[in-house]
Amino acid sequence: MKTDIIFRQLFEKESSTYTYILGDTHTKEAVIIDPVLETVDRDVQMLTELWLELKYILETHVHADHVTGSSGIKKYFPVAQTVVGDKNVAVKCADKKVKEGETIEVGSIHIQVLETPGHTEGCVTYVSRDMVFTGDALLIRSCGRTDFQWGSAKSLYESLQKIFSLGEEISIYPAHDYRGIEVSTIAEEKQFNEMIGGGVSEGDFVEKMNNLKLDLPKKIHFAVPSNQICGKEVIGK
Ligand SMILES: [Fe+2]
Repeated sequence: MKTDIIFRQLFEKESSTYTYILGDTHTKEAVIIDPVLETVDRDVQMLTELWLELKYILETHVHADHVTGSSGIKKYFPVAQTVVGDKNVAVKCADKKVKEGETIEVGSIHIQVLETPGHTEGCVTYVSRDMVFTGDALLIRSCGRTDFQWGSAKSLYESLQKIFSLGEEISIYPAHDYRGIEVSTIAEEKQFNEMIGGGVSEGDFVEKMNNLKLDLPKKIHFAVPSNQICGKEVIGK
């Protein structure tokens, strides 16, 4: 039982996105991971009801399927800093850019940054205690596509091996799940993940990823430029 942290997993149904709140029970400092524009009011209400003081808004990557809630949330928590991976050169709006090995601290909670490119070139994964927030790099029984935003199946393979090396018991909290499954473990994904599980070779993984032939996300031409400015244009600020 995690009594010294407050943890919430929240769902946005249009894009099947998970947003996470992680806060220190005692100091009340908190982060929110991957908020969505459509659910800003819900997230602000939740943070307020829990008496949390939002320090950081962590983005795992520049999303192509939905607009971030980052700027909307900052209207209510102006001291909160927006954080993205350092490799997102087109994102000029972030308050803080993080690199591999950097740590974000909120009270007694330490969140370590892992660079996990492949789905996009700037993807990062956040690790805290026995939890890993993988964005779209590693999904439950799946993984993020690699065919736009300078994605690379080869890079994703390496990133997924890096996530797998964190330890079998670590819980995986992804940015999306389209079947409503909320959590997995590294042990499960190593065995059962349909793209990367079962010890698939890099060559086979790359071939599989490069032959997915998926349609582009409906909002990509709007969401990517909006997210590069932290969703500011969308909320009119
Ligand atoms: Fe994505």
